Amino acid sequence: MVVEEYLTGEEASFFCLCDGATALPFGTAQDHKRVGDGDTGPNTGGMGAYSPAPVMTPEMTERTMREIIEPTMRGMANLGAPFAGILFAGLMITDQGPKLIEYNTRFGDPECQVLMMRLKDDLLVLLNAAVDGQLAHMSARWSDEAALTVVMAARGYPGTPEKGSVIRGLDEAAGEGAEIFHAGTAINGGALVANGGRVLNVTATGATVGEAQRRAYAALDRIDWPQGFCRRDIGWRAVEREQAGG
Ligand code: GLY
Repeated sequence: MVVEEYLTGEEASFFCLCDGATALPFGTAQDHKRVGDGDTGPNTGGMGAYSPAPVMTPEMTERTMREIIEPTMRGMANLGAPFAGILFAGLMITDQGPKLIEYNTRFGDPECQVLMMRLKDDLLVLLNAAVDGQLAHMSARWSDEAALTVVMAARGYPGTPEKGSVIRGLDEAAGEGAEIFHAGTAINGGALVANGGRVLNVTATGATVGEAQRRAYAALDRIDWPQGFCRRDIGWRAVEREQAGG
C-alpha cells in the first residue's frame, strides 16, 4: 500500500543552475499541461507557459531555496554525488508553502523558451561557470518583462500526430517582440512541414503577461497552418490576476 500526501494549490516550475556546491536561482515559470482550454482534456508535455510565475514571490523563492533546494544540494554532496547542471523543481504552492512534487535535471519544455526570452546574460558563460564550480561568483540578470509562449501542435496530439502538413507565414509572424522556436519541424522538398506533436512555440514578451499574451496570439494568428491547433487561453490565471490588480 502506498500512502501519499494530497497536495492542493498552484503549480510552479522553479529552476536553479548548480555547480555541485552553489545553486543559483534561474527563473520561474508556469506551464499548461492539459491539451484543452480551461485546463481540460488529456495531459501533454505542455501547451504553453509564461514567466515569471506570479505565485513565486520573493518570500516563496526564499523558502524554496531554504527548505527544498539547499537541503537537496547538501544531501547530494554528502552522498558523494554533488549535482552540477540544471535542477528543475516542480512545485505545488500550498497554503503551507512550497512542496516538491518532482525534480528534473533539465530545462522544462516549453518553460525554457520563456526563460530564454528573459535572460539578459550569456547562457554559455553561465553554463561554463557551472561546469567549473564558479557559480558562487556569478549572478544572472533577467528582464523585468513577462514572456509567454503558445505551443502549436499537429492535429492528433497528444495521441498520434499527423505529420507532413505544410506550414507557411513564419517570416510574417515573427517580429514586434515575438519569436518562434521550432520543435517538431522538418524541411521537405523546400517546404517547412510538421514533423512531431508539439511543432512550434510562438513566444512574445510584454510589460505584463497580458501584453505578452496579446503579442504571442497576434503572431500566431499570422501563421498559415490549417492542420495545427493551439490553446487560446495560455496565461489565463496570471492575466486574471493582473486584471484583478493582484
Ligand atoms: N513542461 C514540463 C516539463 O518540461 O517537464
